[in-house]
Amino acid sequence: MRRCERIVVLTGAGVSAESGLGTFRDEGGLWAQHRIEDVATPEAFARDPALVHRFYTARRIQAAQAQPNAAHRALARLQADWEGDVLLVTQNVDGLHQKAGASAIHMHGELSRALCAACAHRWDAPLEMSAGDTCPACHAPSARPDIVWFGEMPYHMERILDAIQTCDLFAAIGTSGQVYPAAGFVEEARLAGAATVELNLRDSDMSHAFEHHILGPASRTVPVWVDQILTGK
Ligand code: OAD
Repeated sequence: MRRCERIVVLTGAGVSAESGLGTFRDEGGLWAQHRIEDVATPEAFARDPALVHRFYTARRIQAAQAQPNAAHRALARLQADWEGDVLLVTQNVDGLHQKAGASAIHMHGELSRALCAACAHRWDAPLEMSAGDTCPACHAPSARPDIVWFGEMPYHMERILDAIQTCDLFAAIGTSGQVYPAAGFVEEARLAGAATVELNLRDSDMSHAFEHHILGPASRTVPVWVDQILTGK
């Protein structure tokens, strides 16, 4: 692989599974236990903010207790040691990439941040948020988790697409390829002429779009893959 190559890595819930955080769509995953339309849409929040806050408070507490695994640490190493650019884009909201020392773009928001639905001010979320919590800037009782819900526009799309359109290597790790726009990134990368690789426990809905496949648990496959890139093998 050429030095100074531009790499974009997309991660999903599978990268945090071995840190004890459940994925969404694997057997017994979050979306088997909760209906998306009850907890992860703006309409759900308007209808029953207490329920939505309880759901995200439970996840915030769980994420705060979780520790990064070898996959998060390997990606931080790739970012630190690669001579070229490594843009790490995550759909995860758990903060484990930062805990491992990486800098990640959070396209679906972050559990550790709060957003005012009235004035769009953002601040560090307390561990527990409740219906009617007020915004520290405008004092409206409109505090919500800073999470991108279904029907909302993911964050930082322009920056992400710019990077994908000029990257040489695109990797997707631990994501099922069921949620757009992230699921479409591999096609953008291919159009840009980038090499594409998927790292997953099993084939995903988007596997056919990737040139290379590495099957196995992320904590085992990602460190080996990162070593191969860094040593040029
Ligand atoms: P999913 O739960 O849809 O998919 C998890 C993927 O991780 C699956 O393809 C698994 O095969 C894989 N996986 C599980 N354990 C793994 C392991 N140890 N090593 C490697 N791979 C593993 O999660 P996402 O694709 O991240 O959005 O879901 C995308 C979005 O849908 C989420 O960001 C969330 C959700 O609804 C919002 O909440 C807006």
